[in-house]
Amino acid sequence: MNLLSCYPDEQGIPSSVKLNSIQDQNEYLINGEMLKWQGSMNPVLSPVFIREGNDYKQKQIGSTPLLTSKEALQALDAAVAAYDLGHGRWPMMTVAERIHHVENFLTKMKEKRQEVVKLLMWEIGKTQKDSEKEFDRTCDYIIDTIHALKDLDRRSSSFVQEQGIMGQIRRVPLGVALCMGPYNYPLNETFSTLFPALIMGNTVVFKPAKYGVLLIRPLLEAFRTSFPPGVINVIYGRGRDTVGVMMETGKIDVFAFIGTNKGANELKKAHPKSHRLKAILGLDAKNLAIILPDADLDNAVNECVLGALSFNGQRCTAIKIIFVHQHIQEKFISKLCEAVNKLKPGMPWDAGVGITPLPEPGKTEYLKELLDDAVKHGAKIMNDNGGATVNTFFYPAVLFPVNDKMRIYFEEQFGPVVPIRSFEREEEVIEYILNSNFGQQLSIFGKDSKIIGHFIDAFANQVGRININAQCQRGPDTFPFNGRKDSAEGTLSVTDALRVFSIRSLVATKINEENKKIIGNIIRNRESAFLSTDYIF
Ligand code: G3H
Repeated sequence: MNLLSCYPDEQGIPSSVKLNSIQDQNEYLINGEMLKWQGSMNPVLSPVFIREGNDYKQKQIGSTPLLTSKEALQALDAAVAAYDLGHGRWPMMTVAERIHHVENFLTKMKEKRQEVVKLLMWEIGKTQKDSEKEFDRTCDYIIDTIHALKDLDRRSSSFVQEQGIMGQIRRVPLGVALCMGPYNYPLNETFSTLFPALIMGNTVVFKPAKYGVLLIRPLLEAFRTSFPPGVINVIYGRGRDTVGVMMETGKIDVFAFIGTNKGANELKKAHPKSHRLKAILGLDAKNLAIILPDADLDNAVNECVLGALSFNGQRCTAIKIIFVHQHIQEKFISKLCEAVNKLKPGMPWDAGVGITPLPEPGKTEYLKELLDDAVKHGAKIMNDNGGATVNTFFYPAVLFPVNDKMRIYFEEQFGPVVPIRSFEREEEVIEYILNSNFGQQLSIFGKDSKIIGHFIDAFANQVGRININAQCQRGPDTFPFNGRKDSAEGTLSVTDALRVFSIRSLVATKINEENKKIIGNIIRNRESAFLSTDYIF
C-alpha cells in the first residue's frame, strides 16, 4: 500500500476545495469589537502533505493569535460586565428577543457553509461528507434548541397551584459561561453547549479547540453583529496561558468543556469557589462492543467498522475495544479485516474515502507505541497493512488477542486501532465494564433476548447508553448524551442542555384575594418581564 501517493501535488487539489490564500487570522472578539492581535501567532498546519517534486511538505494553511492572560481576562471582564450580576441587557431580555438574536446569527452562519466545510477538511482532515454533515447537524441543533426553548417557555407561562400557594416557575441564566470544544467536532460539539448557554441568557467566553480553529473565523462577524457587546467573546491561544487565569478569578459560573478528564480536573481545581462552578463535561471513553455467538455477523462487522473507524476512530463515542465470543472469533475477525481492508485512504475531498490524515502532531507515533506494546505482550496485527504509517497517515490496525498487560486494553486510543479480545463467559465482559474508569456507552450484538436482557441489567448502572445491534453514537441529538465515572459530568441533549445552563427561579404567594389582585395587576399592566403569561408562538 502506497500511502504516500495519497497526498496530492498543488495541481491535484480540486479547485472547489482549494484555499485561495494563507488564512492569517489575527482578529479576536471582545465586547462586540473585533480586535487586531499584534503579538505572536500560532501556525496552523494541515494534516495534508503536498508533493513537491520528490518531497512532501506539510501544508501551512494559516495562523491564529496566541493571546495571553491579559486578553483572556479582558474577555472575561467583558462577559462579566454584559451579565452585570444578572441585570445586563442579555440576561434581562425576554426569551422571544433572545431567540430573535440567535435566528439572526443562524441566517448569517448558513451563508458561510462552504467556507467552514472547506476549513474543516483542511484543518482536521474530516471527509467532505462528514464535514458537511457536521455543519448541517449544527444548524439543525440550533433550530431544535429554539423550538425546545419555545416549548419550555410556553409551559412556564402558566401558574401552578399547590397547598394554597400559587407560583410561576421559570428557568433563568446562571451567569458567565466558559465554553471549550474538542478538535474532532470543533463546530458541532462546541456549539451544542455554546448556543444553549447563550439562548438561556448567560454571557460567554468561547475558546476554540486546539485544532479546528480557523473555521470559526468566518463566523466571527456573525457573532459580533448578532449579539449585544460582551455577550459572546471569542479568544485564541494556549489553554495554559488563557484558561487557568480565568478560572482563578472565580468569575466563571459555568464551565462547558469537551476534552480529557485530566484537563477538566485541573481547571475545576483552579476555581477558588468550586461550589459556585457548574460543570458540563464530555470526557474520555473506552466504549466496548460485545459480539455474542448468535450475532448477525455482517451487521456486527459493518457497525463495528463504522463505530471504530469513522473519522479514523477520532470520536468520543467510537467503539474502542471489542469482546468477541470465542465460538465466532475466527469468522468475526476475518470478516472485520476484510471490511477494514476495503477502507480507502485518501484526501478528505476524495470520493468514497474512508481513511484520512490525522491532525494531532505525534499521533501516529503514539499509535505505533500502542501497537508495539500490544505486540510485545502477545497480540498480532490481523489485517494487511495494519499500522502502516506515513507522515500523518496511519492505516487501521486490528489487534488480537489483547489482554490486561497491554496499554491498549485500558487507554483511549482515539485513533484507528481496533483491539479485540475473545471471551467465553458473560462475567468476563461484565468484569471489564465494572472495573473500567470510563462509562460512556457500549454496544451488544446478538439475538438471544435472555442474554441481552441480562447484559442490559448488568450495564444500565455503568454506562450512559446501551446500543443493541448498533454502533455507539451521540445522535439523535434529542436523546440524552452523558457518561459515568471519568466519561462525563451532566447530561446533554437538545432539551437537557437548556436545563443545565439555567436554574429554576419562582415567584410564589399564598392564594388570597389581595395577592391575586397584585399578581393580576403585574401581569395585566406588564410590570414584570419575569412574571408574565405571554405565550411565544
Ligand atoms: O466525539 C464525540 C461526539 O459527540 C460523537 O458524536 O456519535 O454523533 O459521532 P457522534
